[in-house]
Amino acid sequence: MRVPTAVLISGRGSNLKALLEASASAGYPAEIVLVVSNIESAAGLTYARTAGITTHVIPHTSFSRREDFDAALDAALQKANIELICLAGFMRILSEGFVEKWQGRLLNIHPSLLPSFKGTRVHERAIESGVRISGCTVHFVTAQMDSGPPIAQAAVPVHCDETAESLAYRVLAAEHRLYPAALKLVAEGRARLVSGAAVFQEYRSSGDMLINPAEISSNR
Ligand code: GRF
Repeated sequence: MRVPTAVLISGRGSNLKALLEASASAGYPAEIVLVVSNIESAAGLTYARTAGITTHVIPHTSFSRREDFDAALDAALQKANIELICLAGFMRILSEGFVEKWQGRLLNIHPSLLPSFKGTRVHERAIESGVRISGCTVHFVTAQMDSGPPIAQAAVPVHCDETAESLAYRVLAAEHRLYPAALKLVAEGRARLVSGAAVFQEYRSSGDMLINPAEISSNR
C-alpha cells in the first residue's frame, strides 16, 4: 500500500504540483490524498482540485491560540489516516506538541542549503554573502525552525550577475525535483529520523556530498 500523505500549503503551490505529479506516476511509494491550506484563496488549492484530491481549508484567523489551530489540523490529518506530511510553502509555525507528535513523519522544503540561510530573504542573503553555490534542502521538521536534519539537498550555482529573482527561479526548479525524491526516500523507509538524526538505508551519497535527485531515484 502506498503511504497516505498530506501536503500543507499557504500560497502558490508549485511544490505541491510537483508532488502531485510524482504521486500520479506508477510505482511512486507515497500517495497525496489530502491538501490542507490555512488560506482559503491559496492558488495552489487549484492544483489539488484539478487532480481530484480532497482539500481542506482551516483558516488560522478562526483560532485565537496556535495550539487550537494545530488541534484542528491534526484532527483533519487523522480523519484522512495520514501517515506523512509535506510542508510546502506553509506559512505557519507549528506548535511544539504538533511537531513532537508527527516527528519523523513531517517534512519541509527550504530554498537554501541548510544550515545556511535559515528564515526569510534567503536568496537576497545568499547573494549578499557572496556564496558561489546555493540550493535547497528537504529536512525532517523539529522544534527549531529550519533546523531539522536534512533528508536531501540539491545544489544550484550562484552566477556573477545573479539577482534574488533569477536565483529563486533556478532554486525553485531544483525544489520541484528534490521534494518528490526526498518524499520517496522517506515513504520507502530509506530515510528515517532516529534520535534527532537522519538515518539512511541502502543509500550512497555522491562523492561531493551534494545529493543529486537523479541519483537518489536510480540508487536502488
Ligand atoms: C518554496 O520556495 C519553498 O522552499 C518555501 O516556500 C516556497 C513555496 O513555494 N518553503 P510554492 O508555494 O511551493 O510554489
